[in-house]
Amino acid sequence: MYLLLLFKIIFVNAITVKSMSDDYVINNKRFPVDFMFGVATSAYQIEGAWDEDGKGVSIWDHFTHTNSSVIKDKSNGDISCDSYHKIKDDVALLKNLGVNHYRFSIAWTRIIPNGFRGDVNQKGIEYYKTLIKELKDNNIEPLVTLYHWDLPQFLQDLGGFFSDSLSVWFAEYARVCFEAFGEDIKYWVTFNEPKSICNNGYGNGRSAPGIYNPGIGEYICIHNLIKAHAAAYHVYDKEFRDKYHGKVTLVHSVSYCQAKTNSSEDIEAAERNILFNLGWLADPIHFGDYPEVMKNRIAMRSKAEGFIKSRLPEFTEEEKALNRHTSDYFAINSYNSYFGYAIDEPPIVLPPSIDNDTAVGVTFEKAGDGSFGMGKLLLWIKDRYDNPDMIITENGLMTETETLEDDDRISVVRNCLSRFRDVMDEVKLLGYTLWSVMDNFEWTRGYTAKYGIYHVDFNDPNRTRTEKKSGAWYKELIKTRCLTDECVE
Ligand SMILES: *[C@@H]1O[C@H](CO)[C@@H](O)[C@H](O)[C@H]1NC(C)=O
Ligand SMILES: *[C@@H]1O[C@H](CO)[C@@H](O)[C@H](O)[C@H]1NC(C)=O
Ligand SMILES: *[C@@H]1O[C@H](CO)[C@@H](O)[C@H](O)[C@H]1NC(C)=O
Ligand SMILES: *[C@@H]1O[C@H](CO)[C@@H](O)[C@H](O)[C@H]1NC(C)=O
Repeated sequence: MYLLLLFKIIFVNAITVKSMSDDYVINNKRFPVDFMFGVATSAYQIEGAWDEDGKGVSIWDHFTHTNSSVIKDKSNGDISCDSYHKIKDDVALLKNLGVNHYRFSIAWTRIIPNGFRGDVNQKGIEYYKTLIKELKDNNIEPLVTLYHWDLPQFLQDLGGFFSDSLSVWFAEYARVCFEAFGEDIKYWVTFNEPKSICNNGYGNGRSAPGIYNPGIGEYICIHNLIKAHAAAYHVYDKEFRDKYHGKVTLVHSVSYCQAKTNSSEDIEAAERNILFNLGWLADPIHFGDYPEVMKNRIAMRSKAEGFIKSRLPEFTEEEKALNRHTSDYFAINSYNSYFGYAIDEPPIVLPPSIDNDTAVGVTFEKAGDGSFGMGKLLLWIKDRYDNPDMIITENGLMTETETLEDDDRISVVRNCLSRFRDVMDEVKLLGYTLWSVMDNFEWTRGYTAKYGIYHVDFNDPNRTRTEKKSGAWYKELIKTRCLTDECVE
């Protein structure tokens, strides 16, 4: 899940300005029978068992153990939901919900504990094999993320995402996973939310590995990540696709940015915001290279700042060819929408920043709630990336209370789903994945932030799961495929 600090502000806003969106009517068309409803989690956030059965140390183990103050409640994922020991219990929850698919991630450190020597850990492989079998036995389709932020610390010590070798390490790890699990997996994700990995891990330094290098670090990190994604994609393409017929992509995180007014300046600014957020990743994996506006603006500002070369690295022609067409479906995490407007060119100051490279003002004013741009986002993607198959791989609501009566979560999820349903005759949306099936370790917010449709009692050694109102609601939705009391086909 993308840690959006601003989310709370929007949500408060959503209550106070609700009337502004009251004229929005929930879509009453039924979702198609083959529409995939699912739920998502990630390894570090739920598994626990951080050093069991040969698992290596990840950057999140290291980050939380080195200085607990980096986490709001000084907690960590050592035990978390203890899902490592609860395969049967967790799959029973999924079965009870009636989901079509379950999106989870594989911990690199369970598969190759030190990251790259090829000493594969059989116990790690067994764990995921057991999980996948249990899912398949219950007719639940696994949607598998290879990297959800938990790099082996061993590789971090060699530079992590700053290293040119990342693509070699990642392709090797991906090959082990494709080989071990490929037969049962239709949908693969290489990296979850590259922007979160790189902005927070290597730019502002707020998340593991905690490197502060704004305006430079993010760009190098994404550059290496795209090459690693492409390398893994080609491993699948060459060695596994004919056998397993799966699909591979990476997961984008994006909030739709709508122009605040109809002035050409605001329209251009909003477009630039989306290109700096989504185009940064999606353009290279579809077209080979970064959006022109990013290349031009970062080069222009880098020069003014005294850099000899642009802070945005360049792909060689060969790399562009490798990047191009490495997305078999378009995977989107989205929790929000906002308004964008033109601002004056920010003065040249050091350190540089991606915000000032983007140079777009954003506001939540007039937003009834964060769902308003969800349909427009899908239309934007359709137009730019040639009408791809799409899956919403995350959407949901963060709250900070323990309550089981989470009407606010139901309301937000219903609004988002309705906005998606609004455009489904125009785009190829195959499925929706709610984040998350249960409350879990929410990165730097620890256990203070809740996203689950099941409550988890973190004071109980059994980590007992209890269905929330939203869980019952989602179960009913999956049955009826209808967001309103009555639906038309
Ligand atoms: C630990 O993290 C906190 C919060 O980021 C920071 O203020 C503090 O300086 C860190 N302590 C050490 C020893 O690095
Ligand atoms: C922009 O123009 C469209 C179409 O003319 C109109 O529906 C919309 O309300 C306008 N938006 C703003 C913010 O003025
Ligand atoms: C952008 O530049 C302004 C100067 O206009 C500076 O005050 C601000 O800190 C910079 N923003 C970021 C995110 O670094
Ligand atoms: C935890 O689980 C054990 C074994 O199933 C059970 O005996 C015990 O009562 C549970 N404890 C709590 C607090 O639910």
